[in-house]
Amino acid sequence: MSILHLPGLIDIHVHLRDPGGTHKEDFATGTAAALAGGIVAVLDMPNNTPPVTDADSLHAKLAAAEEKAHCDYGLYLGANESNADTVFRLHAEACGLKMYLDQTYGPLRLAQLSAVMAHFRRWPAHLPIAVHAEGLVLAGAIALAQAHNQRVHLCHVSRAADIALIRAAKERGAPITCEVTPHHLFLTAADAKRLGPLGYMKPTLGTAADRDALWANLDVVDCIATDHAPHTIAEKGGENPPPGVPGLETALPLMLTAVHEGRLSLERLVELMHDNPVRIFGLVPPDSEIEIDTTAQHTISRRGLHTKCGWTPFEGMLVWGQVRKVALRGKLACRDGDILIPPGFGQPLRRTA
Ligand code: NCD
Ligand code: ZN
Ligand code: ZN
Ligand code: ZN
Repeated sequence: MSILHLPGLIDIHVHLRDPGGTHKEDFATGTAAALAGGIVAVLDMPNNTPPVTDADSLHAKLAAAEEKAHCDYGLYLGANESNADTVFRLHAEACGLKMYLDQTYGPLRLAQLSAVMAHFRRWPAHLPIAVHAEGLVLAGAIALAQAHNQRVHLCHVSRAADIALIRAAKERGAPITCEVTPHHLFLTAADAKRLGPLGYMKPTLGTAADRDALWANLDVVDCIATDHAPHTIAEKGGENPPPGVPGLETALPLMLTAVHEGRLSLERLVELMHDNPVRIFGLVPPDSEIEIDTTAQHTISRRGLHTKCGWTPFEGMLVWGQVRKVALRGKLACRDGDILIPPGFGQPLRRTA
């Protein structure tokens, strides 16, 4: 047995579906899944039903989180065609602004450049705008970041060309950061074929060359984020399966397996899953520690998962490393998968001044 202590991880991209999709996940089950995965704080996306685009929807979601969350949280505001002033006035209560520039799950999508620019003019430059943007749309998002000197965080980068452009733009000083997901690092289109709808998400899984390019360019990646996007098995098996896969409980074991295989260092893992999330979003990290047995091997299985959706696209994968204990603000929050702190223990993340 080899025991390792790390700070509790921070996942900057999750969809906990509360309110509006609580049959898929809610703040209690989603934050329990986070703790079981060694994650002590999550930044939750605004594509709820209704979307989080104004004071009422933000405050309703904050109230749900306050009541149910086991771990700490921050909430994104969602940009729409007409709410640039509204979200600006609410920025102190949110972790960032999310912009959907490509079609994905939910109603939030900005199609008009003028509406996008209104947000870029208004939103405070020190707070990131997180964008879902792929391919040429990603190139447009980088141009907007440069033209407005506004920090832009590029979500779930998945393609060789996209990461190559990010490298080039960063080398020229573009004010951008980016994240990649474990599923784009560990799965490819071949898995999507095998998994069917359980391997379908946005961006879709790429080729082996795309996956390899993400690993080869990991030095320009700022964060590993799960894009935990649960949908029920029934929804995934239906006519028009929604995109998205869960990931909170599998991210750390997968990344520790990469450490075990010598594909990244432990220091780099902590940068990607703790230090850079804190820096990019200006967060005060919660006092926390996780204890990991790095020599424990296990096969990923849906049995014992805390996520309400009850499945994982990584079923059957053999991974190194098991989370034994998670401490949060002096309390033992999770031991061997058992959640030991009540719903409501989680607090809103604070930002540094
Ligand atoms: C996300 C969801 O289901 O909310 N789905 C996905 O495939 N990633 C939306 C998103 O992050 O684009
Ligand atoms: Zn320690
Ligand atoms: Zn997205
Ligand atoms: Zn997402």
